[in-house]
Amino acid sequence: MSRVPFICGNWKMHMTVPEALALVDDVIARVASMDGVEVGVAPPYTALHAVSKRVAGTKVRLAAQNVHFEPKGAYTGEISVPMLADVGCQYAIVGHSERRQYFGETDAACAQKLAALHAGGLRSIYCIGETLEERDAGKALEVVGRQLLAGLEALEPDAVAEQVIAYEPVWAIGTGRTATPDQAQEVHEFLRAQLTQRYGAEVAGRMRIQYGGSMKPQNAKELLSQGDIDGGLIGGAALKAEDFAAICGAAR
Ligand code: PGA
Repeated sequence: MSRVPFICGNWKMHMTVPEALALVDDVIARVASMDGVEVGVAPPYTALHAVSKRVAGTKVRLAAQNVHFEPKGAYTGEISVPMLADVGCQYAIVGHSERRQYFGETDAACAQKLAALHAGGLRSIYCIGETLEERDAGKALEVVGRQLLAGLEALEPDAVAEQVIAYEPVWAIGTGRTATPDQAQEVHEFLRAQLTQRYGAEVAGRMRIQYGGSMKPQNAKELLSQGDIDGGLIGGAALKAEDFAAICGAAR
């Protein structure tokens, strides 16, 4: 089963509106003629509306970095799925390790977010990954397997097939330390096997599993050539259009 690789830039808490527009314009120009790869950017909330207008009619998809699972209400500081749809988001990142670590986001909350996004017509980029301690204790597969199935729990198999999974070993995020292609492929293959067991080969075969964690132009090709790695969630390297576009090019 052939899957179109998906490269998404996670801009995290970077970029004012003018900076975001300059970056996205540069990205749009560089990826315009690349086929065989889906490209997305996830600016901070404050830049979503402005960036949305720029990416309209281009090949660049818009993603949010987080979402609340209630459609509206007294949740000061939160943003809902209908609000993200309103500004043109097609995706939202859920369960990023920084949100799990600093904001107490649990697998159960992620499951609610995935269900809300699906109900609202958006797709999730659901992040999972083990810490260094968990890897050193030989628990990497156990941890990511549990996160994977718990986050998808509220979705029907047809809906599951549309979601994007991002495997991001916590020890590789922003550290310059990348999983080797073999290490990453081992986990991706395991995740696909888990998906196959739970949802069947057809659903598992359609799902894209991104790698994230210090992916850059220098290591992208080798990581993306692994059989079960279907793209990347890119942090640091997504803040430079040239590097980000080079990774998109490596995915084709
Ligand atoms: P990084 O971040 O590419 O800077 O390691 C990836 C991510 O956190 O999504």
